[in-house]
Amino acid sequence: MRIFLHYKYPFMSFSEQQSNEFIPRHIGPNEADTRSMLKTIGENSLSDLIDKTVPAGIRMSKPLSIPPAMSEREYLKHINEVSLRNKVFANYIGQGYYDTITPSVILRNIFENPGWYTQYTPYQAEISQGRLESLLNFQTMVSDLTGLPIANASLLDEGTAAAEAMTMFFNTLNKQDHIERPKFFVDKEIFPQTKDLLLTRAVPVGIEIAEGDYKTAAIDGAYFGAIVQYPNDKGAIEDYRSFIDKVHAAGGFVVMATDLLSLTLLTPPGELGADVAVGSAQRFGVPLGYGGPHAAFFAAKDEFKRSIPGRIIGISIDAQGNRALRMALQTREQHIKREKATSNICTAQALLANMAAMYAVYHGPDGLKNIARRIALYTQTVAEAIEERGFTLTADHYFDTIVVKTDKLSVIREKAERQQINLRYIDNDHIGISLDETTDVADLFDLINCFENDKDPVAFGMDQDAELEHIPSALTRTSSFLTHPVFNTHRSESQMMRYIKQLENKDLSLNTSMISLGSCTMKLNAASEMMPLSWAHWSKMHPFAPANQAEGYKYIIDELSNYLCEITAFDACSLQPNSGAQGEYAGLLTIKSYHEANGDHHRKVMLIPISAHGTNPASAVMAGMKVVVVKALENGYIDVEDLKAKAAQYSNDLAGIMITYPSTYGVYEETVKEITDIIHQHGGQVYMDGANMNAQVGLTAPGLIGADVCHLNLHKTFAIPHGGGGPGMGPICVKAHLAKHLPGHTHNAESKTQNATGAVSAAPYGSASILLISYGYIRMLGNEGVKAATEYAILNANYMRARLDGQYDILYTNNNGQCAHEFIVDLRPFKKSAEVEAEDVAKRLIDYGFHAPTMSFPVPGTIMIEPTESEDKAELDRFCDALLSIREEIRAIEDGKSDKKDNALKNAPHTQFVVTGNEWKHSYTRQEAAFPLYYVTLNKFWPSVARVNNTHGDRHLICTCEPVESYMVAEA
Ligand SMILES: Cc1ncc(COP(=O)(O)O)c(C=O)c1O
Repeated sequence: MRIFLHYKYPFMSFSEQQSNEFIPRHIGPNEADTRSMLKTIGENSLSDLIDKTVPAGIRMSKPLSIPPAMSEREYLKHINEVSLRNKVFANYIGQGYYDTITPSVILRNIFENPGWYTQYTPYQAEISQGRLESLLNFQTMVSDLTGLPIANASLLDEGTAAAEAMTMFFNTLNKQDHIERPKFFVDKEIFPQTKDLLLTRAVPVGIEIAEGDYKTAAIDGAYFGAIVQYPNDKGAIEDYRSFIDKVHAAGGFVVMATDLLSLTLLTPPGELGADVAVGSAQRFGVPLGYGGPHAAFFAAKDEFKRSIPGRIIGISIDAQGNRALRMALQTREQHIKREKATSNICTAQALLANMAAMYAVYHGPDGLKNIARRIALYTQTVAEAIEERGFTLTADHYFDTIVVKTDKLSVIREKAERQQINLRYIDNDHIGISLDETTDVADLFDLINCFENDKDPVAFGMDQDAELEHIPSALTRTSSFLTHPVFNTHRSESQMMRYIKQLENKDLSLNTSMISLGSCTMKLNAASEMMPLSWAHWSKMHPFAPANQAEGYKYIIDELSNYLCEITAFDACSLQPNSGAQGEYAGLLTIKSYHEANGDHHRKVMLIPISAHGTNPASAVMAGMKVVVVKALENGYIDVEDLKAKAAQYSNDLAGIMITYPSTYGVYEETVKEITDIIHQHGGQVYMDGANMNAQVGLTAPGLIGADVCHLNLHKTFAIPHGGGGPGMGPICVKAHLAKHLPGHTHNAESKTQNATGAVSAAPYGSASILLISYGYIRMLGNEGVKAATEYAILNANYMRARLDGQYDILYTNNNGQCAHEFIVDLRPFKKSAEVEAEDVAKRLIDYGFHAPTMSFPVPGTIMIEPTESEDKAELDRFCDALLSIREEIRAIEDGKSDKKDNALKNAPHTQFVVTGNEWKHSYTRQEAAFPLYYVTLNKFWPSVARVNNTHGDRHLICTCEPVESYMVAEA
């Protein structure tokens, strides 16, 4: 037994005891639990269990070289000290990132509230109605502001959203292998980081980027689309109507990158004729965070509703005919479409979309317009004052951004920096200034002062009621927006707090019970890991601030990169990808770039096992690779013979293989080294999907199993919360030979020249602020603790497996009968024996107060359980008791004691309304329906809707808030 699990710490000094305090807070089972759980499994010790689970040939032989644990108190002190190395200047850099005021009611009740941030993606709609409602508000807000009928529930960042629009257009017009329309026009005045990303995404799939001036561009039938920015990179408001007509006349589509706040004043893209609008909702109350996380948005014309990337929330009805929300159009998910998927977006930015939606709910249309008007007026004031001082501006029509021409840049810069002001230094003679919601009158003095000689005192005039003279009348918004009651009701803090709470109450998150989602690692997101995110020295940093102001971030980035390299047994790391799937894409680009540097441009075949997550093949196709599927054996292992044959068949063109380890079936295949060897013998590279790293840390490593590159889902293994579907981070680690092929970024000129691969995220370090969570996780667990976390994840899974074995068929264990950190329960036999489907079991678990495990991945008709190390024995027992009780309910159907059609499983979940209704026609009791086990009476979670009807929703697709009458409850 490990010392740190003794609460009395008999062998430790006081200071060691203090430093190791966090470990038993993070890991659920205590010493007595551990003993009893091992007994159930039939093992004598934890190390015996690990020896029988993890193959000896891949075990890590020495301890991880990362620092020992810190207590929570030590960590908070440390991270505060590091934060002070960041210098918080007033930022007028703009370029897609603006300071904002997060209303405290939203900060406290959403951003800092585990009831919101520990939610999982709303796959179980019945216990997700709160965030679904909020995401529907987000979609409505985006749709209204952009003037386009359909919007999704967020994307990763503005750059990727633009790239998604480009590829959606490309795939719409180039359906066959033969590319008829290869060209995409990019206006020269779009954000540089967006341009960079478009280029990265275009090249592998054969898109030709043509950059130019939209005013003079000749668009013909070779173009499938175009992008313009509104207001543009330099803040100018351009009228794109005739350009859009030109592209349409040539048969192409137009995406406008835009700014939601400006659209309260400007004619929206939809009214100008655009097909798609994209952008970032960051300035709607989401802190800068040195680049993220923020929710990007994507709105489109109706004709694209079946090809929009990401998730869309739609309205349907439940089993009682009441209004119920759920994720619409699930058929587009990568799981189903795999290599035919047109996008690899899985994790997006749900939490931040919720914050942005709540910002609009709180301010309402008038509040938003007031904020926009104030910013525009301040900008006009600053602009005119600067012009009065003899400078010229590059544009006359602007909203919040102006560009000043000057030959005195260094003087102005020096003066600005003295006042702790960051301006955007575009080139040697152009300075950009972007104002935001936080700018006040005192700031205007400081700003103007940068352009004043030192002798004169700053003076300027401003009339609050003045006309906005620089918003062109031809592009002034006349249409109304956000007219739905939800955006016009919650003005007082009391109302707002209650609205947020009302939605939170409808959702089951980790603060109710365990969420045992296989492949998702819903572990503890500790409060001490989360707290620093709200601190100004982390949250108010602009991603393009000068490097000498961001030394705190640099420290975290360097340290975390080193720890991740140590944990993966790799040599270099890129923290740029902001989701797992984005990491896959970035990793595959490094492989591609490596082969090309060796002159092997033809190496494009990627072998992918049948059991792979759908994002794997989708990412491979995005990277311009050809997917060849490798079979699995009956026991779930990769079919090595099939692999050998395919590697030999494609030897000359082999780019590599994508494997998940332990496999998505939840086993450590002993054959893994043989597999990686075969790939290397044929000149390929091995990509390891790190979704299951929680079963590796400290015990083995991607570098030890023979991989060359892997991504790590920091929102799984490294404690970033799932936020109801994002944020996430998917950094990649690589062996030394791939280091120079990692993604670069325009903001960091050095990385551009050194690295062969372009940017994959809009910000250089993706969603940088949440890196703090993973950093905190590693520092507070320390080298011993991160390894113990893996061991206990394996213990917890095997304990549950052992408890359920015999009552349920457990699929895929290793030769010793052990699973890794997760296992698959086969529910298919019950279809025949009792007409019970996996979905019935999932929904019945809700009545027992639990979120269902992962359903039908990787095997249809099964559930995959991953308890994580953070759950204690009592919680694991409650979950097992629930499943065992459900097994008895199934048996009653099998034995003819319960009706096949009318039983607690088929009717699950049971709402309070149904259970307390005047009528009860079922053969089981109300108590059996709602309180099937004693523990449920102690902590009952009521679903707010009954089983959701997916087919109805897909047939009648409604993805924005509908009129108020439709919220009415159906007659009981
Ligand atoms: C095995 C596996 N690979 C890749 C992913 C994609 O990761 P992300 O959702 O962060 O894009 C997942 C997500 O659940 C996964 O389980």
